[in-house]
Amino acid sequence: MAEVKLYNQDCINAMKEIEESSVDLILTDPPYNLGNFMKNRDTNLKKMRENFFGSAGWDDMEFGDWEKAMDDFFKASAKVMKKGGSMIVFMAIIKVETIIRLAEKHGFYYKTTGIWHKTNPMPRNMNLHFVNSTEAWIYFTYKTRTGTFNNDGAMFHDFVETSVTGNGERKYGKHPTQKPESLMQHFVDLLSNPEECVLDPFMGSGTTGVAAKRLDRNFIGVELDETYFNMASKRIKEAK
Ligand SMILES: C[S@@+](CC[C@H](N)C(=O)[O-])C[C@H]1O[C@@H](n2cnc3c(N)ncnc32)[C@H](O)[C@@H]1O
Repeated sequence: MAEVKLYNQDCINAMKEIEESSVDLILTDPPYNLGNFMKNRDTNLKKMRENFFGSAGWDDMEFGDWEKAMDDFFKASAKVMKKGGSMIVFMAIIKVETIIRLAEKHGFYYKTTGIWHKTNPMPRNMNLHFVNSTEAWIYFTYKTRTGTFNNDGAMFHDFVETSVTGNGERKYGKHPTQKPESLMQHFVDLLSNPEECVLDPFMGSGTTGVAAKRLDRNFIGVELDETYFNMASKRIKEAK
């Protein structure tokens, strides 16, 4: 039976409590910190917020403060990661270079920048510009050049396509950036093995935890916001 351990606190503090060199896969989706960027562009932020942004932490920072927070996150990740472990970090495409630079500083070996394509995005302003339908995911291994890659001889593209998160996966409450379960399952399956340990330090509504539990991995999840934490706890507990 998969073991689950959840923390309702800042991930940098929580990660101090996790055993060193014990995590096989970090699969996470930190705040992209696009709040200020959007504000400066005079975007209708209230509407954007309702649709896209999490309400807690690290989302409205000055760039330098966010960069420092991400630096602390990679430092904490390096401590808990096993040599040869893997990491996937979701991120806005415009921030990819910063993430690679910070991760490499802490011993992560950069492998791939891939794309998640949403097949049915909100058709916002579709007659004015390109509809936003992509996010990046960045793949690293820790202190080795390869890690677990359960491809079974199949070829995997650096491109994953799913529909946006359906209402059936939202019955525990609304999280503005909830990822689809099939997307997280794809990475858990490919980059870790049963009974290994998967960590999501920014778990939001708990999607990584649902995927890990389903695939018989142990899971450690951290979420700062109490409402999202409670949502994730219930969702992971009841996941089958
Ligand atoms: C992009 S969302 C993750 C969504 C998640 N992948 C899902 O499917 O629901 C990022 C989450 O990180 C949380 N967060 C922000 N700063 C944090 C911190 N310092 N420690 C832990 N969680 C944090 C936010 O409250 C938010 O729920």
